[in-house]
Amino acid sequence: MKHLKYLNKFFWKYRIRLFLGVIFIFISNVFALYPAEFVREAFDTVLERKQLESRNINNVLFKYAGLIALFAILKGIFMFFMRQTIIVMSRKIEFDLKNEIYQQYQKLSFNFYKKNKTGDLMNRISEDVSRVRMYLGPAVMYGINITILFYLVISKMLSINTTLTIYTLLPLPILAILVYFVSISINKKSELVQIQLSTLTETAQESYSAIKIIKSFNSQKITSKSFLKSCKEYTKRQLNLVRIEAFFYPTILTMIGISTILIIYAGGIESYNNNITTGNIAEFVIYVNMLAWPVASIGWVTSIIQRAAASQERINSFLYYKEEIKNFSLDLKKIKGTIEFDNVCFTYENTNIKALKNISFVLKEGETLGIIGKTGSGKSTIAHLICRLYDIKKGNIKISGTDIKELNLYNLRSSIGYVPQDGYLFSGTIKDNICFSNSEKNNSRTIESSKKAKLYTDIKKFKQGFHTLIGERGVKLSGGQKQRLSIARVFYKNPEIFIFDDCLSSVDAVKEKEIIKNLNKESDNKTTIIISHRIASVKHAEKIIYLDDGKIIEVGSHKALMKNKGPYYSLERKQNKNINE
Ligand SMILES: Nc1ncnc2c1ncn2[C@@H]1O[C@H](COP(=O)(O)OP(=O)(O)OP(=O)(O)O)[C@@H](O)[C@H]1O
Ligand SMILES: [Mg+2]
Repeated sequence: MKHLKYLNKFFWKYRIRLFLGVIFIFISNVFALYPAEFVREAFDTVLERKQLESRNINNVLFKYAGLIALFAILKGIFMFFMRQTIIVMSRKIEFDLKNEIYQQYQKLSFNFYKKNKTGDLMNRISEDVSRVRMYLGPAVMYGINITILFYLVISKMLSINTTLTIYTLLPLPILAILVYFVSISINKKSELVQIQLSTLTETAQESYSAIKIIKSFNSQKITSKSFLKSCKEYTKRQLNLVRIEAFFYPTILTMIGISTILIIYAGGIESYNNNITTGNIAEFVIYVNMLAWPVASIGWVTSIIQRAAASQERINSFLYYKEEIKNFSLDLKKIKGTIEFDNVCFTYENTNIKALKNISFVLKEGETLGIIGKTGSGKSTIAHLICRLYDIKKGNIKISGTDIKELNLYNLRSSIGYVPQDGYLFSGTIKDNICFSNSEKNNSRTIESSKKAKLYTDIKKFKQGFHTLIGERGVKLSGGQKQRLSIARVFYKNPEIFIFDDCLSSVDAVKEKEIIKNLNKESDNKTTIIISHRIASVKHAEKIIYLDDGKIIEVGSHKALMKNKGPYYSLERKQNKNINE
């Protein structure tokens, strides 16, 4: 239960709704209570006035029937208000909690994402929050309802006859315990159903995404088989659940039946001894029916609370997760594009791979740096460190003359236009993707950016132009178009530092040249880093670093490196030869 304490702040926030909810529950229960009395009075009147004319009896019965109907309507109205306050409150808290979790997701570092699976993270915000909401809404509502109803009904019953009250209440605890165990079993089984459902969805989803490969490998049979297997397992688990659920209602009805028999038996004796009237027996039968379902729901509410506590524990462990990359500065001073690496070493914690070893270089504002090197040599890692996606433990990185850790993190990131190697596109329109860095979408700037990224003519060919929906992760675009869209995105951002991480690999040589020319124009006074495997992409840079296994093996301008006749020169010869061949 201690984990659910976290939610008390929300109860406090919506205290007025909660308070009104309790009042409405109370009123609706008062209206629920009286009809039983009317039934008793109707019975007793009929028995007393047996000798009266039938017309009079009719009048009396109509009066009670009318009263019962009126109270039922009033009860219904207040039940509506009760749901409108408490269930609405739970939905509002659900909204707040989801937002809180989402904000936390945005703050957490890359390392966190490497340690947790996407599915788990999704569950936190959907499945777990739904379970917590079941506690905030239905469990709280029924909990308060049961308490008030018990108080009202039992004190009423006791005021009539103690013996009969005891007989009526006797089977109810057994019912509560039974329902509790049945609920636990239902929960366990529905959990198994949920797990299987996720597997099933995953299997289906994967085959949609990989449809090209499946068809070209002629593997439809294999994938259908694995889907069928998942499906069979799902049906089996679902049937297991249905079986236990089928047991649920008959159990409750049997217990109500036993209670009713006991009342009629004990009530008969009490009435015979003149301790109660005949009408009281009917009244008690109604009370037991009023109590049975709430008693059954005690078991249900308890299991909801248990599940919510387990979910909230998972949510809390995540909400209390400490940010690794902390922002220490509120300074919003404009960041300039000077970058200095001084003996920087970096090891990826999860794999213990030493990605960078004693890297030092200085890049002045407006200069262009080319980084070249074999795959896995640490090129992207340098880009990650400049964006401060990771903090270094050894060495020093200065940007704009200040230690990177002392810069305002948000300011730093908004000064960098990073095109990652595997640029992610969102499933909106082309325009949404270009204007991603800014909430306001400027038309002329969008067009200009797409022109600089050599994407404009492609966009013009689409029927809906900038409003073309690009599909999930940009499936409707070619590889090169995707890359150029990622590039247009940073041109739109117009940052102080441009970082292009191997994002020209699918762009043809002519377009690449033009994009780089535009970049040079754009970045006259802006610092630029171009990461590539190809000499052609970096040769115009003022400074080129050749990385190998995390170390700088050569540094200089294209001219100087060519003169050196070292590894850079050999690479250039090799690539040139390939092109000429
Ligand atoms: N997120 C990560 N977690 C753990 N290890 C990583 C991670 N990213 C990269 N590495 C490792 O760090 C080393 C350097 O990787 P990096 O991505 O910087 O290489 P790269 O030069 O950009 O290669 P490529 O040209 O293939 O993009 C590699 O050995 C890689 O396995
Ligand atoms: Mg890379």
